[in-house]
Amino acid sequence: MKKNSLLLMALCTVLIGFSQDVAIIPQPVSLEKRNGTFELNGQSRIEIPTGDAAVRRVADMLAAQLRKATGYAIPVQNAGPAGDARKNTIRLLLNKKEAADLGAEGYRLEAGPGVVVLSANKPAGLFYGVQTLLQLLPKEIESKTSVKKTNWVVPAVMITDQPRFGWRGLMFDVSRHFFTKEQVKQFIDEMVKYKYNLLHWHLTDDQGWRVEIKSLPRLTEVGAWRVDKTGTFGQFSPPTADEPRTYGGFYTQADIKEIVQYASDRFVNILPEIDVPGHSLAAVASYPDLSCTPGTYHVNSGEKFMQWGEGTFSALVDNTLCPANEKVYEFLDKVFTEVAQLFPFGYIHMGGDECAKNFWEKSDQIKTLMQKENLKDMHEVQSYFVKRVEKIIESKGKKLIGWDEILEGGLAPNAAVMSWRGIKGGIEAVKQGHEVVMSPNSSVYIDLMQGDPSIEPPVYSTVRLKSSYQFEPVPDGVDGKFVKGGQANLWTEQIYNMRHAQYMTWPRAMAVAECVWSPKNKKDWNNFIGRVEKHFERFDVAEIKYAPSMYDPIVKVSKAEDGQIKVDLGTEVEGLDIYYSFDNSFPDRFYPRYTQALIPPKDAVNLKLITYRGKQPIGRAMTIPVSELQRRAGKK
Ligand code: ACM
Repeated sequence: MKKNSLLLMALCTVLIGFSQDVAIIPQPVSLEKRNGTFELNGQSRIEIPTGDAAVRRVADMLAAQLRKATGYAIPVQNAGPAGDARKNTIRLLLNKKEAADLGAEGYRLEAGPGVVVLSANKPAGLFYGVQTLLQLLPKEIESKTSVKKTNWVVPAVMITDQPRFGWRGLMFDVSRHFFTKEQVKQFIDEMVKYKYNLLHWHLTDDQGWRVEIKSLPRLTEVGAWRVDKTGTFGQFSPPTADEPRTYGGFYTQADIKEIVQYASDRFVNILPEIDVPGHSLAAVASYPDLSCTPGTYHVNSGEKFMQWGEGTFSALVDNTLCPANEKVYEFLDKVFTEVAQLFPFGYIHMGGDECAKNFWEKSDQIKTLMQKENLKDMHEVQSYFVKRVEKIIESKGKKLIGWDEILEGGLAPNAAVMSWRGIKGGIEAVKQGHEVVMSPNSSVYIDLMQGDPSIEPPVYSTVRLKSSYQFEPVPDGVDGKFVKGGQANLWTEQIYNMRHAQYMTWPRAMAVAECVWSPKNKKDWNNFIGRVEKHFERFDVAEIKYAPSMYDPIVKVSKAEDGQIKVDLGTEVEGLDIYYSFDNSFPDRFYPRYTQALIPPKDAVNLKLITYRGKQPIGRAMTIPVSELQRRAGKK
């Protein structure tokens, strides 16, 4: 009897171990499941080698996270003499002899009964191993308050892991909408869980200058503030002269130093972006002399000021710095002197994107510059500017990176290129022997809608989760040694708060994380979705918002031969059923199930849709007016 119950207990432990699915994102290089579990309890301890402050920090962060959720005050202790292998221990080790298969950021994690051994060549590797260890624990480990739970088990595994790319970035635009210092730290906390190591911080734009430059105080006295507006950004009514400019904010240099340190403690580099010569209205509003066009300027408050056409654009207000004005280079020298001192990362991003040329074309100063410097067109004027900026940035000991427009008119000698208008700019830059970071809007622009426009907050285009998952930083035929990695970009015109920033970021940033960390041959969409669903449960515990859009139907509308419209439906996630109605009532699983293209009945007003997994509704109730379907089909 006693023997039987012991056997039963052992069996239960194994079953608990197996029933708790291993769902790690990004997928590790190699993962072997073993029998048994490591059980964390009030007597567990974390052991570290003596004398390494960075390892100590990693261990302390682990202990703090474990304590929050479990309530256990797990001590961090220095390792005893060699061979003193104590049980119930999470052991962090730095390899004395570097392991070739781990590089600078890789780790090996061996979990089994009584012990977890996490080893790496560098502290960064231990930090990523800790992220994996947390993902191996039950989802309640994500709780910010202590959870009554007795079986904090880690399934026995052997994991060997290291990233595919050294540049694994997320861009955060804090200009269009301002996010506080604490929110930026929260953004960093969330990105590191998925092993991102670079925060591209978009600090300046037409709608706000967010970094204190001590030698140029008006940048933040004037440039950081605009009229407070809510609704659809870009379509606001123009502010009147007396509307108070109360919306905005900026980071003091002390704030920046604090965030840089916070990021560095988590092995995140910060790439500051000062977006010039376009996107510069906040700077021009602060110092109007920087423009080629004399006038009075205001920081944009979300009213229309650019004209976008098919592949063309122009500015209604001159939001550019004047490449023909020496004061501009003096200004940039001051800005980059202070920026270079604030940010230890080796690169500074100078923007360079979407610079309207229509005011330059009218400027006598620019005409004189073109004659003097023998510049044939506006692209060459822009290129002249970028090359001057490169000299300034290099004089501060940094390297220039810019959006792919910096290729136009000739790339600056040492510039790195961030390819956003697809991958063609990146391919061209590699051909010219320049470093590249891939960030194509077709797959990693996480400000765009992630599902049907009838249900998503409106943005001008869509990038579904599956497109993000298909992101490949090294296109066929491109020499991978020039591709530093990739990143997803969170522009915030339509993002007013942190909850919505989270909604837009997750789960697409999980997909991009896997594209930049995991080996290409480990990517598997269906397997990824299974893991994403597990991570949604963790997000629920952590109270972090995410988009459930992957469960909603994909709607494709076309014209049928007889002039009617035809509606094809699909889903990103396999195995879902779609139910529909045209009678204005809410469909459920007792309604018609979609099996073939739908033709809206004559006089129908709305198509209503919902997805189910078996008997469970899983997508959101969607309504698309038939008039909208007709518009999408190009039929009035
Ligand atoms: C960009 O999206 N304008 C770089």
